[in-house]
Order: sequence, then structure tokens, then C-alpha cells
Amino acid sequence: MTNAVEVQAVHKRFKGINALRGLTLSVERGTTYGLLGPNGAGKTTLIRTIAGLLSPDSGEVKVLDTRMPNKPILGRVGYMTQSLALYEELSVRQNVQFFAEIAGKDDAKAIDEVIALVDLSKRANSRVRELSGGMKQRCSLACALVHRPDLVLLDEPTVGVDPQLRVQFWEHFRRLNQAGVTLIVSSHVMDEAERCDKLGFLRDGVMLAEGSADELRQRAGTDNLETAFLRFAENTNGKEQSS
Ligand SMILES: Nc1ncnc2c1ncn2[C@@H]1O[C@H](COP(=O)(O)OP(=O)(O)O)[C@@H](O)[C@H]1O
Ligand SMILES: [Mg+2]
Repeated sequence: MTNAVEVQAVHKRFKGINALRGLTLSVERGTTYGLLGPNGAGKTTLIRTIAGLLSPDSGEVKVLDTRMPNKPILGRVGYMTQSLALYEELSVRQNVQFFAEIAGKDDAKAIDEVIALVDLSKRANSRVRELSGGMKQRCSLACALVHRPDLVLLDEPTVGVDPQLRVQFWEHFRRLNQAGVTLIVSSHVMDEAERCDKLGFLRDGVMLAEGSADELRQRAGTDNLETAFLRFAENTNGKEQSS
């Protein structure tokens, strides 16, 4: 198996909104794929479809060689949602433990390690509702990683996280890749894109372009990723108007 994720011609429509319009992508095992695009591009819809929480109207999603949706495979997937899904009245540790338990991996050492990783050891016994936004974000990341998943889906994980810790997150993501773990990270911040092995530029449910940051800049004839995004978007506008 070389690809951890295969998305084939996926369409998803919500009441008159075409959130995903024939999306195809594959993510090689042990790599980090960055989904980039503005609000409303379809990033969260795509991630939820990959996690099997949404069924596509047409097309197919395979995760770790298994056609989604599939419940058992979810034990091997970590998902950090964009809107935080934490229990505000429980402590950091209790939240992380809860996620470990539902994945069947209630291991005290793993829980301590992941809390240390997100730099919350000193706040392990604080109730989540007493934490700052960035701390909640970090707690949420700990919950997504505690069961040592093979595939990690992170929906805008570094929003509200300070720059120094953001660097640490990315260093950890790299180590996960080296251990064979696959990551899909969505962002609307282009500077994080540099860290990804491959990028997908998404807009209006369509893949505008795919490749490494260097490849995309080169193809667009610019040294700036944001400009590259805009150029690919312009080309697509032209095509849509003439078709
Ligand atoms: N559950 C839903 N019901 C109706 N529309 C939705 C739903 N989820 C997403 N959408 C719409 O689908 C489009 C893509 O949204 P989303 O995947 O959240 O984009 P992104 O994460 O890139 O900001 C948006 O137009 C959004 O309003
Ligand atoms: Mg989103």
C-alpha cells in the first residue's frame, strides 16, 4: 500500500450548494498533504468525507485500503475538527483520556506524553472551559493524536496557536511522517504550506492545482504562493466562463 487516502471524483451537494465538484486526490503514506483554500472552498467537507462522517453523492473515498464510510477504520484515524469538540466541564486529562478510551487505547503513558507534546502538562487538571483559545486548540490536537492513528486529519489546527508552538507542532508532524503516519492538514494560511510535501489548491469545491510548493510557484511563474493561488484561480475562471 503506498497511498493512505484515495479520493475519486467525489461530489457533495448541500441544498443547492455544490461543496465538492468531482474532487480527486491521493495522499501517499507517510507524507503531509496540505489543503489550501479560502473559506467555503470545501476543505472541511472534504475532510469529513475522508473521515467517513459524510457520504459523497457520487464518487469514492478509500482510507488505508478501505472504502469509506467504515466504522472500524476510524480507530486508526485521528480527526481534529475545526470547531472544537471538547467537553468544557472536564479537565484536559479527562478529555484526552476520553478520546483514548473510545479508540480502545486507554494508556496512561500515552496520555501523559501527548499532553506534554502540546505543552499542557501544567494545565492537565484544569477544566477546558478555563483555558485560552490556543490552549483549547492544543488540547484538541492531543485528543486527535493520543491513540496513535495511522492517518491524522487536522482541520485548521494552528489557528490561534502562537508561532513558537506552531513550529513545534510542525516538527512533531514531521516525526509522525517519519514513523509512517500520514497527515492531511487544511489551512487558509499560505506560510504553513511550505511544510507540506504536497499541496492542493481548493476553491469552490474544485481542485485548482496540485503539487509541491516549489512546483506550484514554478508553474505559476511566481515566487509567491499566494500569487500562484490567484493565478490558478484566474485560469479556472476563464475556463468556466468559456465552457
Ligand atoms: N452541513 C452543511 N449544510 C449546508 N451547507 C454546507 C454544510 N457544510 C458545508 N456547507 C457549504 O459547503 C461549502 C463548503 O464549506 P466548507 O467545506 O465548510 O468549506 P471550508 O472548510 O473550506 O471553509 C460552503 O458553501 C458551506 O456553506
Ligand atoms: Mg472549514
